[in-house]
Amino acid sequence: MSIIVAGGAGFIGVNLVKELLEKKTSIYLLDNFSNGNQLFLDRFKNLDYLEVIECDLSKTDQIFPVIEKIRCLDKSLDQIWHLAANSDIPSGVSSPEIDLRDTFMTTFNLLEAARKYSIKDFFFASSSAVYGDHGNKIIDENIGPLMPISNYGAMKLASEAQCFAAYESFLDKLIIFRFPNVVGTPPTHGVIIDFINKLRENPYKLEVLGDGNQQKSYLHVKDLVNGMIYLSKANLGENFNPIFNLGPDDNSVKVSWIAEKVVFKISPKAEIIYGCEDRGWLGDVPKFSYNTKKAQKFGWKPKMNSEEAINLAIDEIIKYLNYKNIQ
Ligand SMILES: NC(=O)c1ccc[n+]([C@@H]2O[C@H](COP(=O)([O-])OP(=O)(O)OC[C@H]3O[C@@H](n4cnc5c(N)ncnc54)[C@H](O)[C@@H]3O)[C@@H](O)[C@H]2O)c1
Repeated sequence: MSIIVAGGAGFIGVNLVKELLEKKTSIYLLDNFSNGNQLFLDRFKNLDYLEVIECDLSKTDQIFPVIEKIRCLDKSLDQIWHLAANSDIPSGVSSPEIDLRDTFMTTFNLLEAARKYSIKDFFFASSSAVYGDHGNKIIDENIGPLMPISNYGAMKLASEAQCFAAYESFLDKLIIFRFPNVVGTPPTHGVIIDFINKLRENPYKLEVLGDGNQQKSYLHVKDLVNGMIYLSKANLGENFNPIFNLGPDDNSVKVSWIAEKVVFKISPKAEIIYGCEDRGWLGDVPKFSYNTKKAQKFGWKPKMNSEEAINLAIDEIIKYLNYKNIQ
């Protein structure tokens, strides 16, 4: 079996590729390296069954020739795992065209390539951002209406809609994974690396975006990748609604708790200074907890809860940064 991993040079992508390569899957990794990094792929050098192709998936004159060529040479190509997107939510709030291009058009073009070149299975990395702000409600896959509050969330929801239309028309299999906040290495963005970078700049002060009471679910990337691969192979039956919340079933974790953990490990003398707003930035959903019973019903649940995932990720990121000697 051969597969395309789109956005495979990013944080979650490299973890997924590593796991799939261990299962001896042949992979075509497509990425424009806008946020992914060639260094992340060094460990896969000399592996015959990974081909890395630099390609902007929002541009039809790049994506179609690339996928047509892969299809001509490789008849066993039958899956697309789509992880390419703009992962910087605030940038998309100030410039909505970024999410139109990198979050939506990448999906639209990959689905169009799947139709043109008969690739039958599609796995999509969606997000809790599609739900919008439901306050203290525990969010299951059937909650509604879906009213995203960021352009990123809006373009993820539009992408999901496009996936459903393709499923009705030409895909054999579709799974939409709605991730919570994902943590681990190699870090490309997120709350832990933000705090660490701030403390490296000024070890005496940590300024937190928002009042620290933001409370969200966190999933370790190892658990996430394990869940995606497990569910991609599960027998989901006929007429199945292909959406899964992936995450821990806990009360989630406050940003103030994460700030205290990072300060303790990096710079215990630092004063933590909180903002006044209940959210970190425009478009930030301040609170959410997941109901993940559906994934559990099919036999998957993460090994780590939110606190365990954060604790492990902080240690891993510190080790990673020291090892790479990044200042
Ligand atoms: N990390 C999280 O907490 C989280 C939460 C919810 C959903 N997600 C989703 O999971 C996926 C992976 O996220 P991540 O954290 O690894 O982000 P990331 O930024 O590290 O990875 C995204 C990858 O997509 C690539 N990319 C972006 N635009 C592209 C384009 N036009 N053409 C080709 N490649 C392009 C980037 O270079 C990068 O390598 C994304 O779709 C993201 O929206 C992530």
